[in-house]
Amino acid sequence: MPAISFQSVSKAYPSPRNAASDTFLALDEVSFNIDQGEFFGLLGPNGAGKTTLITILAGLARATSGTVSVLGSDVQSDYAAARRKLGVVPQELVFDPFFNVREALRFQSGYFGIQHNDAWIDELLESLGLTDKAHVNMRVLSGGMKRRVLVALALVHRPPVIVLDEPTAGVDVELRQTLWAFISKLNKQGSTVLLTTHYLEEAEALCGRIAMLKEGRVVALDTTRALLKAASGNVLQFKIDSELPLSLPAGARVTGRVVQYPAIDALAIEQYLAAAREAGLTLHDIEIRRADLEDVFLQVMKQHAQTPSQASKAVV
Ligand SMILES: Nc1ncnc2c1ncn2[C@@H]1O[C@H](COP(=O)(O)OP(=O)(O)O)[C@@H](O)[C@H]1O
Ligand SMILES: [Mg+2]
Repeated sequence: MPAISFQSVSKAYPSPRNAASDTFLALDEVSFNIDQGEFFGLLGPNGAGKTTLITILAGLARATSGTVSVLGSDVQSDYAAARRKLGVVPQELVFDPFFNVREALRFQSGYFGIQHNDAWIDELLESLGLTDKAHVNMRVLSGGMKRRVLVALALVHRPPVIVLDEPTAGVDVELRQTLWAFISKLNKQGSTVLLTTHYLEEAEALCGRIAMLKEGRVVALDTTRALLKAASGNVLQFKIDSELPLSLPAGARVTGRVVQYPAIDALAIEQYLAAAREAGLTLHDIEIRRADLEDVFLQVMKQHAQTPSQASKAVV
């Protein structure tokens, strides 16, 4: 039995005003399973539909069509059972301003009918670096601390399936490390983890398998290893002092002064360097490295660039 199963999940929202059609598809026939014990990454640009999919998984929104289940429990027809198996850390910082941290965790335990949970609550506080904040009111916690509390709240009932929606967006390095150490430990102990993140080096390091979503559709789904292998092998990277001249070959990824070209073989690398020399560019910090997940992600997204027929695709 899979930990999470998405079968032909579609979600239509009313179109923004002035759009050609009345509805648009935030999710379009999304189907994949996540096995028990996996550390699974769901990647995609903003607006791809990641949060919509997670909201449906959590039973907080209804799919327009398709079915979703958690360890065999349908999230609609068997909501209570599915909800108990799932711990969701939402993208938005939502919290009850009247409780301190420990009270919030006790209240959440009560919601799941768990009465004596203080030993586990203490362990959560300790593992997430929240022990000295146990009696602080949620209202006055910093954003990073609130994020930790949201993680603790999601885990208070020891769910076998853990879902994190951009848990490290805008948080500091220390929290990231604390969080990943703890989540990895839970994963090693058998928990299934579904993660969305824009930090692709995080996904590359943590996730065994990855799905990439674009405009509501799955455009790549494989093991992280296979995705990396399928990407064109190497990347030529250098720094320049000026703008990249138009005479250089297209297809560079430019971040500030850093230019990166996907380079399949030595000949491609030679050609880029020759073009740069002809353009009179001075290159600094020349480096040839293996393609990473960010390169793969950009390649996949480019392959699935929007076509006019997709842009106007809508449910009727
Ligand atoms: N409640 C809603 N009503 C209408 N449109 C929505 C709603 N929630 C999300 N959307 C739209 O659905 C698309 C997917 O959004 P979302 O799932 O938040 O993407 P992601 O989490 O991948 O950034 C976006 O175009 C977004 O504007
Ligand atoms: Mg989102």
